[in-house]
Amino acid sequence: MRSWSFDVKRLTLGEMTERSLSEIAGGASLEAADPTSARVRAVAEARSAEPGPLLEILHDVQNEFGHLPESTTPVVAEVLNLSRAEVHGVISFYSDFHTAPPAEVTVAICRGEACQAVGAEALADYAKSRLGVDVGAHAKDGSVGLEQIFCFGNCALGPTASVAGRLHGRVTAERLDALIDDAQAGGSSS
Ligand code: FES
Repeated sequence: MRSWSFDVKRLTLGEMTERSLSEIAGGASLEAADPTSARVRAVAEARSAEPGPLLEILHDVQNEFGHLPESTTPVVAEVLNLSRAEVHGVISFYSDFHTAPPAEVTVAICRGEACQAVGAEALADYAKSRLGVDVGAHAKDGSVGLEQIFCFGNCALGPTASVAGRLHGRVTAERLDALIDDAQAGGSSS
């Protein structure tokens, strides 16, 4: 008898947990405690009636937060009546979308054909070793991130790199060092 009572109690707790998760999946409970989720929902709903609004919504969310917060996938999927896998697939496909806050200094190396022909791969390898991070990754302290781009439209002046949002042509390893040092010191050399 004692064992039966215990099972009933566990079942009741399980049902309660299931119900809570269901409420969170529905959005109301989660968003009451998480203003970020609520804001993502508002941004998504503002465009939900437009044709094919997914990309525009993701851009709007990223413009507002600087990246796509964790709640973006479930909230946007619910608002647009898509599966989470569909939303996640789009976020993963486009390198423009970031699921983590941006690094303090972002270094982007062009790996387009024209830049590759003049040493972009060696420059990318140097950047990885200098920064201690792989392409597409951030340093653990968020101080620096490394990205790749497949043409900045600066092909005649390759190898091209962007450091802290400023574009530079004919970038050598030595110049990249100086640009990174300057950016990390808060400078704006060109
Ligand atoms: S290929 Fe590098 S800027 Fe165009």
